[in-house]
Amino acid sequence: MKKYVKKILLGLFVVLIVIQFFPVEYNRSEEATPADISTALQVPADVQTIFTTSCYDCHSNNTKYPWYSKIQPGSWFMANHIAEGKEELNFNEFGNYSKRRQKSKLKSIASQIKDDEMPLFSYTLIHRNASLSEAQKQKVLNWVKNLLENY
Ligand code: HEC
Repeated sequence: MKKYVKKILLGLFVVLIVIQFFPVEYNRSEEATPADISTALQVPADVQTIFTTSCYDCHSNNTKYPWYSKIQPGSWFMANHIAEGKEELNFNEFGNYSKRRQKSKLKSIASQIKDDEMPLFSYTLIHRNASLSEAQKQKVLNWVKNLLENY
């Protein structure tokens, strides 16, 4: 029995080593972002910091990769979230959205934050500084609320 366990562990270890040789393509862009939400709208600095710290890794063209996020299978998992997240909402491209789409995304940002759906739980487990305090959440919610009154 013990021999069996050892073999399984060794097998898992080998698999872990092997998958490190299949890295993902990183979500990085050197291009300027003239349509970024911070240019398209008046975003107060503290709200923008919240977006940059807690959302941009999955919702922009530039993810910050700490060393541990480069280890497989974590980075596959992350790449999947980035692809999906960017498709739904890309802060770097916000200015290119139609007015109507911008409005609906702003509403969606507020509801996702209010319901603690975003940032994704699996992400805040590892990126501790990305979780939002009540005060931070309120800041974003107030900003969206005021903004939508004039949209
Ligand atoms: C770890 C990656 C990740 C992070 C970090 C993250 N998101 Fe998301 N987000 C996703 C994924 C994946 C989806 C699409 C699937 C879903 O809705 O769960 C999504 C969907 C959304 C949507 C829905 C878009 C729509 O059209 O309804 C909004 C809004 C959103 N995120 C806002 C945010 C905000 C605001 C933050 C930061 C406070 C944030 N997200 C942080 C991955 C992420």
